[in-house]
Amino acid sequence: MRGHGGAPGKIILLGEHAVVFGEPALAASLPFGLEATVEVRAAGGFAIDAPTAGDDPRVAEAVAEIAGYFGILHASVGLRGELPAGGGLGSSAAFAVALARACAEASGQPLSPTQLDVIGLASERRFHGTPSGVDHSVCARGGIWLYRRGPPPLLTPVKASRALPIVVGLTGRKRRTRGPVASLGEKIERDPNRWRPLVARLGALAEGGARDVEAGSLEALGAKMNEAHGVLAECELSCESLELIVQAARRAGALGAKLTGAGQGGAAIALAPDPAPVLAAIRAAGFEARFAEIR
Ligand code: MEV
Repeated sequence: MRGHGGAPGKIILLGEHAVVFGEPALAASLPFGLEATVEVRAAGGFAIDAPTAGDDPRVAEAVAEIAGYFGILHASVGLRGELPAGGGLGSSAAFAVALARACAEASGQPLSPTQLDVIGLASERRFHGTPSGVDHSVCARGGIWLYRRGPPPLLTPVKASRALPIVVGLTGRKRRTRGPVASLGEKIERDPNRWRPLVARLGALAEGGARDVEAGSLEALGAKMNEAHGVLAECELSCESLELIVQAARRAGALGAKLTGAGQGGAAIALAPDPAPVLAAIRAAGFEARFAEIR
């Protein structure tokens, strides 16, 4: 019994971190992601071949939990793809979604969207502590969404009137989402009057950004991305590498550039109708970059 499943990565266009604290986030699937294969065996537990996941012990725990959901206790599991673990592009969420799909196929069981959400959220909790749920929700559905955490989560589809030309820059610096999320939570607890308005502003930018995407107003969207990056940096969620990528992208003509996801490493995104000079500038600054058309 064999099964195969795939899932895209994701970027957060606007609203990361704020979404953990009840504000909306504007997130989109990437045109690349992860593929999982599962071959059920009679005995021997799990043999996992997942080069991009490194030696993170939580991967084996998550594999056993997700496979167990389908009654699979022994299997060879393969994971391949273009999402670096801890890279800010939803690798853990895409892993859970792709693996659940592969296990469903291998076990011949149906997999409803609700089951996929339950499995995705449980796996994300293992990796990130208190996730908002935006990553796995977007990886499972694909497309662009305005997401507000639940229960129950509210997912509003956002229809782009024109594709979003996005350049993704990778710091190569792995980070865990748990730390940055907790550090903002502590700030809010310590001094809500200082930090709450910033979180609310990030949510308002996400809401406005959804309207820009629908209207095809790339200049307005880019301006919101720039403002959001400033707010995230004020929340101490940027880092030197992210700043280098963001500044290089802006200088090369991007309409907006910001960190995406948890920050303090991971990835940055730039809205770049003319992507070639932006790709070149980020690479010249010493980082990997790739283009993704988002729709
Ligand atoms: C991570 O991709 C996005 C964060 O907002 C965390 C979350 O929503 O769970 C930083």
